[in-house]
Amino acid sequence: MDKIIVEGGKQLKGAVRISGAKNAVLPVLAATLLTRGRNIIQGVPKVRDVATMIKLLEDLGVEVESYHNEKIILDTSRADNPEAPYDLVSTMRASCLVLGPLLARLGEARVSLPGGCAIGERPIDLHIKGLEAMGAKITLEHGYVQGKADYLKGIKFYFDTVSVTGTANLLMAAVLAEGETILENAAKEPEVVFLADILNLAGAKISGHGTDIIAIEGTTSLKPIECTIFPDRIETGTFMIAAAITQGDVTIENCIPKHVEPISLKLQEAQVGVEISKNKIRVKSKGPISCVNAKTHPYPGFPTDIQAQFMALMTLAQGQSIIVETVFENRFMHVSELKRMGADISLDGHTAIINGVKSLSGAPLMATDLRASASLVLAALAAKGSSIISRVYHIDRGYVGIEKKLSKLGAQIRRIK
Ligand code: EPZ
Repeated sequence: MDKIIVEGGKQLKGAVRISGAKNAVLPVLAATLLTRGRNIIQGVPKVRDVATMIKLLEDLGVEVESYHNEKIILDTSRADNPEAPYDLVSTMRASCLVLGPLLARLGEARVSLPGGCAIGERPIDLHIKGLEAMGAKITLEHGYVQGKADYLKGIKFYFDTVSVTGTANLLMAAVLAEGETILENAAKEPEVVFLADILNLAGAKISGHGTDIIAIEGTTSLKPIECTIFPDRIETGTFMIAAAITQGDVTIENCIPKHVEPISLKLQEAQVGVEISKNKIRVKSKGPISCVNAKTHPYPGFPTDIQAQFMALMTLAQGQSIIVETVFENRFMHVSELKRMGADISLDGHTAIINGVKSLSGAPLMATDLRASASLVLAALAAKGSSIISRVYHIDRGYVGIEKKLSKLGAQIRRIK
């Protein structure tokens, strides 16, 4: 198992290029199952979750015609296996994204129920409820979701909870359903909007995406997908915080400032310099960090995927900050590790109270989930002394060569096998 070693205290300086958005490419890969032909996707980030999804698609009969330099060509003409195997699905919850497309394409699906994960139980009850309403017969047996649908019909569906992949799943199923589907309380994440736009380019008839209500007019078939994945807003936010926590000066070159507005505003509130231009953001320290409160919400609110990284920054802020996690029930796994570095944090349910300290000290650390591990790297960059972070496979799920990008910015960081 790889480990990452960080010698803290270096100010990050320079420019960094952000890779494609993991949470945009995963649904688009699943959506290729709605087509029969050569799908061309560019800007694909080489992260573990993408490799897992590609393996899953190959198991379903999709042929990878070519895949290099972030460009993949997938031939879906002969994908006729409806079963997504446990050994793949259990490592990545987002595998459930093939459920809707398989039912739409083959009229059947057998997808292992995703295990929970460190941040919460993460059920897919809303995915199932929506697909059943569209006419699928769904049973749960031997840890598999078994679905059958002679055909899918358009429905009006209300999401009790905003669900990103739930919205994506039903959106993809609705594209080939009979009649109109209305999804209410739909997710507005840029990744969902991108999926809808790409499906429309392939012949779907989707409107309202980016608002609470998405309407889909079912059609009979789609052309193959062609697209370029946009830069990852969570990676962008992670590097913005890396610049702030090390009192550095970093320009993030290819990003979409609109996607990270809540993070820019919070950093400005914390007295960090944030200069925004068309597709660049420069984060420049202006001195001590002020404490700032934050509460996570679905997009366009403050993203839950940045909560752990922002908390790392607040451990070194002046004063007390309150962070409330409203999306997941157990997304404070980073707290105990940050406290081992000397952070002063107390938890009360979904609320974390952080009293800023003068400095953190490097320590041996254990990563638990993707974003918690990013927060430990950020804290280690600012800590005095060295830190060794183990189980870094978590971080490789969502970041392309994070240690290479950080060392290019002057961090003293390396990976050991
Ligand atoms: C997506 O997960 C992202 N993953 C997550 O990013 C992100 O944290 C999350 O959205 C919230 O923004 C991908 O896009 C692949 P949800 P998803 O369904 O879709 C509850 C990362 O770090 N819920 O929006 O699984 C659920 O338990 C990952 O890249 C139900 O109760 O999240 C959670 O509390 C981590 N029933 C809340 O809704 C359901 O059927 C939001 O979950 C579905 C969800």
